[in-house]
Amino acid sequence: MRNFNELTITDAVLDRLSGASDERTAEISASLVRHLHAFVREVRPTITEWEKGIAFLTQTGKVCSDTRQEFVLLSDTLGVSMLVDAINHGATEGATDTTVLGPFFVEGAPAKSLGEDISGGLEGHPFLVTGTVHGPDGFAIQGAAVDVWHSDSDGYYDVQQLERTGGLAMRARFRTDDEGKFRFWTIRPAPYPIPHDGPVGAMLSKQGRHPWRPAHVHFMISAPRYQTLVTHVFAEGDEYLDSDVVFGVKDSLVREFVLMPAGAAPDGVFRDSPFFHLHYDFGLKQS
Ligand code: BEZ
Ligand code: FE
Repeated sequence: MRNFNELTITDAVLDRLSGASDERTAEISASLVRHLHAFVREVRPTITEWEKGIAFLTQTGKVCSDTRQEFVLLSDTLGVSMLVDAINHGATEGATDTTVLGPFFVEGAPAKSLGEDISGGLEGHPFLVTGTVHGPDGFAIQGAAVDVWHSDSDGYYDVQQLERTGGLAMRARFRTDDEGKFRFWTIRPAPYPIPHDGPVGAMLSKQGRHPWRPAHVHFMISAPRYQTLVTHVFAEGDEYLDSDVVFGVKDSLVREFVLMPAGAAPDGVFRDSPFFHLHYDFGLKQS
């Protein structure tokens, strides 16, 4: 077959997929071709516009490195990450809602004891985080691994400023106690713009969008026989809750970071100045 035109090219490409190695590859490839062709038919790009699109994707690939994943940012900012999340993690009674993983998770964060301060000595408002982990039946899960990570009071993660933090900070792995509880001290995170000095940042500004996320603490919680939970808890009242650049906010994940007076903190520690407190009870789904 040859001499394809605007009307025949899509079917010609679809026909070529008949030898795909498996059903799923055939299904995904055919859908991609149909949607991509429909997009081009709708947009009718000029040759220059199409070249710009290719240059954008090329640049997106070029800025990716071990510490920067621009394609994930692209997926996040176009709402695709949250769409994939919604398809794969339906809301379940008693289970905490999920949200995006984001690019700042680090495998193998330092294990810390309950109650430890993970701020790495960085300045900020003292912040006590307490919580529980339970199963769908409401029973406490003992020994669950609770990975946490968050930004500093200027909105930067440790991995964005290793020369300043001198290593990993504001991240750790805790284990819940025999009542399914965990607690730690740190500094209150701030809202922050996602990395926007690359092609995704240029795209956002061309689209008339800001790059900000509301202040939040990330959690990844896992335990044998339960599905791993990837989520955040957002600060109530944050100005970006309704315009999170990656569409990650769910009402169930918003909590007050309560300003507490000096004195005995909920974990029994005496504080000589005011501090913030966040408490959240996490529910895991059985696997
Ligand atoms: C984050 O919350 O760490 C994050 C999520 C998506 C894109 C950029 C950052
Ligand atoms: Fe984050």
